[in-house]
Amino acid sequence: MAFPATRLRRLRATPGIRSLVRETDLTPAHLIAPIFVVSGEGRREPIEAMPGIERFSPDLAALEAATLEALGVAGVLLFGIPDEKDEIGSSAWDPDGPVQRATEMIKTLTSELTVVTDVCLCAYTTHGHCGVIDGDGRIDNDETLELLARTAISHAAAGADAVAPSDMMDGRVGALRSALDEEDFTTTAIIAYSAKYASAFYGPFRDAADSAPSVGPGIPDDRRGYQMDPANAREAVREALLDVEEGADIVMVKPGLPYLDVINRVRDAVPTPVAAYNVSGEYVMIKTAAASGQLDERAAVSEALLALRRAGADVIVTYHAKDFAHWQQ
Ligand code: PBG
Repeated sequence: MAFPATRLRRLRATPGIRSLVRETDLTPAHLIAPIFVVSGEGRREPIEAMPGIERFSPDLAALEAATLEALGVAGVLLFGIPDEKDEIGSSAWDPDGPVQRATEMIKTLTSELTVVTDVCLCAYTTHGHCGVIDGDGRIDNDETLELLARTAISHAAAGADAVAPSDMMDGRVGALRSALDEEDFTTTAIIAYSAKYASAFYGPFRDAADSAPSVGPGIPDDRRGYQMDPANAREAVREALLDVEEGADIVMVKPGLPYLDVINRVRDAVPTPVAAYNVSGEYVMIKTAAASGQLDERAAVSEALLALRRAGADVIVTYHAKDFAHWQQ
């Protein structure tokens, strides 16, 4: 039946009826807040490139996590900024590193909050790449797997509920699963950054985590040799299916908003929950437009996060988590 018998506006007439037919929900329980962790005590530093976001020492990261839990946010995703970097990123698996210490402290201050740790080497290597560089200036996939596994084990030992490999090496999910199982961390989940694109939207993050690839002889100056080509969507489905086969518990698409089609395709293709990462560049676009009065921050953030849910994300990693949770109070 067409117009005039059919009138879709009937179901938009009142807040009550709109709420009754709403297809998608969004609550703080769907959100994971990233936290940047540095060494030391009582330390907090604003991040210039990301207004409203700070780096915390482990003790203050734990307080922040407790606040997030009280606000109903589901989890935190920890990124470490180490004191020392080297060629192979060896401080990534330091049992006393910022991420490992923060994980322990968060676990003592919270009860239900899910603690996820980012597993990658780029913030820990002098050259800023996500793996080790071989003699030909290429990122050595298979050599890197063992170092990632060591890192994941150190996070699990500190009490992480889930580890999230973001390096985009082939076979890392399988390598992490068997390494964790061998050490009896059979309950530690893996949230795989399955479809992670070589994206310009990570710019502010690289400033926050001091993880930009460095320029130098024999060092690739971007991550296109391992992160995905933004032109590809079928390949994202392949990546996700492989990760599920290798034992991923949740697969992630990253960035989020410019890749809603990819989230949707992955959602249809895999049986696992799907996460989307609303990355630093997406955050900064809304924050700066709101700061100059061009956007209503609350409305824009709510709509953007809802769009990620509507595309098929069960879980959203977002720097807006705390603000959004506050607005829901
Ligand atoms: C590290 C990593 C990056 C992000 C998450 N993990 C940056 C990168 O790949 O260069 C980006 C997150 C963001 O922009 O918010 N591999």
